[in-house]
Amino acid sequence: MSTPLLKIEGLGHVYGARRGLFGTSPAFRALTGIDISIARGESFGLVGESGSGKTTLTRNILGLERPSEGHVLFDGHPVIDLGRGGERRLRRRMQIVFQDPQASLDPRMTIHDTIAEALVVHGPDLGIARSGYTRRVLDLLEAVGLGREHLYRHPHEFSGGQRQRINIARALAVEPELLILDEPTSALDVSVQADILNLLQRLQKELGLTYFFISHDLGVIRYTCDRVAVIERGRIVEQGPVAEIFDTPSQEYTRKLMDAIPDPDPDLSPLRRLG
Ligand SMILES: Nc1ncnc2c1ncn2[C@@H]1O[C@H](COP(=O)(O)OP(=O)(O)OP(=O)(O)O)[C@@H](O)[C@H]1O
Ligand SMILES: [Mg+2]
Repeated sequence: MSTPLLKIEGLGHVYGARRGLFGTSPAFRALTGIDISIARGESFGLVGESGSGKTTLTRNILGLERPSEGHVLFDGHPVIDLGRGGERRLRRRMQIVFQDPQASLDPRMTIHDTIAEALVVHGPDLGIARSGYTRRVLDLLEAVGLGREHLYRHPHEFSGGQRQRINIARALAVEPELLILDEPTSALDVSVQADILNLLQRLQKELGLTYFFISHDLGVIRYTCDRVAVIERGRIVEQGPVAEIFDTPSQEYTRKLMDAIPDPDPDLSPLRRLG
């Protein structure tokens, strides 16, 4: 059996467990006993209501937080205590795309510089010389459906959907293996959500990417993912193939999440458009 690309074992996270001389800040347990294993090339979904611990889990996966219990292995290796070089190399292999495409772009930087910035840090690891940056940025823009005419524009000159394409291009610039997508379409108009989901699917196939896809929108998860985990107050309450979980949810909580999906306007529904 090959090593899973991402393996989370017995992960627990407690915030505010710092002990000071005069007491402690109130501790809050955000995650308990999380076990998730994701194979290379798989698309894994995580759903749960606000405050259930999705971002906390993501931060533990990225090595930005130290687990209180258990561990996270990326390609068989722990994601913490790597030293500076090791941390940089790991950071390149795991990239994240956030919900708000506006907030994650620097308004003063052109698109060229935004994407090339990632290459400055990781170019040496990728064997890309400075003279090759512009060519690479152009290739990336093309991969996400943008073009040469966009190269020297600033973020405010794009639509929300285009800005998310830029974020995706920037994440892909460093040739990651795992892409963490934290509500990547939630801030977008329904009419462009489907375009972005289609783009993500195409890129995954072409580049053999592995996705960790966070969404409160079960329709999006169902369309995009192979397997899904449902998280409630820091615990995984069920996980399995999407069809199974959606057709026969074993938990009341999962059924409630499904009931919470608003009835979409059939003409606007991205899932309808994806047919
Ligand atoms: N730095 C922190 N210190 C203390 N508690 C925190 C911290 N960050 C998050 N929490 C708490 O941990 C719980 C999980 O938060 P988290 O941000 O992981 O939820 P989430 O599932 O990402 O929610 P959302 O869907 O709203 O983004 C919440 O109760 C939150 O208040
Ligand atoms: Mg969150």
